[in-house]
Amino acid sequence: MTAQFTQRKIFNKAVVRQSFDDASDSYNQFTSLQREIGSRLLEQRDALNSPAPKKVLDIGAGTGYLSKKISEINGLRELYGLDIAVGMLNKTKSHLGEFKAAGLICADAESIPLAGSAVNAVYSNLAYQWCSDLQRAIDEAYRVIKPEGTFTFSTFGPQTLRELKASWSSADNGVHVNEFIDDDSIRNYLAEAGFCNIDVSSENIINYYDSPKHLMLDLKGMGAHNMNPGRNHGLTGIKAFKSMLSAYEALRTEKGVPACFQAVYVTAEKPAGCK
Ligand SMILES: C[S@@+](CC[C@H](N)C(=O)[O-])C[C@H]1O[C@@H](n2cnc3c(N)ncnc32)[C@H](O)[C@@H]1O
Repeated sequence: MTAQFTQRKIFNKAVVRQSFDDASDSYNQFTSLQREIGSRLLEQRDALNSPAPKKVLDIGAGTGYLSKKISEINGLRELYGLDIAVGMLNKTKSHLGEFKAAGLICADAESIPLAGSAVNAVYSNLAYQWCSDLQRAIDEAYRVIKPEGTFTFSTFGPQTLRELKASWSSADNGVHVNEFIDDDSIRNYLAEAGFCNIDVSSENIINYYDSPKHLMLDLKGMGAHNMNPGRNHGLTGIKAFKSMLSAYEALRTEKGVPACFQAVYVTAEKPAGCK
C-alpha cells in the first residue's frame, strides 16, 4: 500500500551529514531550543521516573544531550546512539562520560544496521525532520523495536520558521526554508508501519532574536539552515535578501524579531505478538 500523505523533497544526505559534521564543534552553543524540546519529550513518557527499558536506541543522537538524559534512567542496561554525522557521534561519546554506551552507530535512520526486534525503545529528538523518506525511517524504527516496545520522538512541524518563510515569499519565489511534515501525515505513517497507541501533539515555541540575521546564524550553528534541493545557490540576489530582511523587520516586537518553532511530540507502541 502506498501512503498518500505529505512527502517532502529528497535531502542530499551528504549535504546533511557535512552540515552537522561542520556544526559539531559549535553545536552546543545553540542548543537551548533542542534541550527544551528534548526535556519535554522525556516528560511525554515520564521517562525519568519510570523503570528503564533494557535496551534503548537514540536516533540522531547529535552531541548526546538526550542520550545523556536517557543514560540516567534507573535500570537502563544498554544504550545505542545512532547518527549520520561522525563528528556528532564523537561528541556523544565524550558527553556520555561514565556511562559506557553499548554502541555508537554512524548510519542513516532510514537504514538502521541492527537486527529486527533489537531494542525495547527508540527515542529521537529533532532528527526525523532531516529524513527524506519519513515513512521508511518510521518503518525502520518499527523493525528494530521489540513487540510491546515504545517509540518516542520529536520533530518540527509546518509552523516552524513561518515568519522567515513569509518574509522570503514576499521577496522572491525561491525555496529558502526547509519543509516540515504535518501531524496527520505523521500519524498516518506510524499507522502504516504498524504502530498502535499513537499520540501526536504539538506546541508553538516562539523565540526572539536581535535581527533576522541572528536567527539565520543560529540555524546555521545548529546545522538547521536550509538544506533542501530547491534552495537558491549563488547570487540569491542582494536585492531579494534585503527585501526579505525588511519584510521580517516589519514583524519586530519589543522582545525582538519572532521565530516560531512548532515542536511535535510523538509516542507510539509496537503491538504485542508481531514481528
Ligand atoms: C538537531 S540535531 C539533534 C541532536 C540531538 N538529538 C539533540 O537532542 O541535541 C539532529 C541530528 O540528527 C542527525 N541526522 C540528520 N539526519 C539524519 C539521518 N538521516 N540519520 C541519522 N541521523 C541524522 C544530525 O547529524 C544531527 O546530529
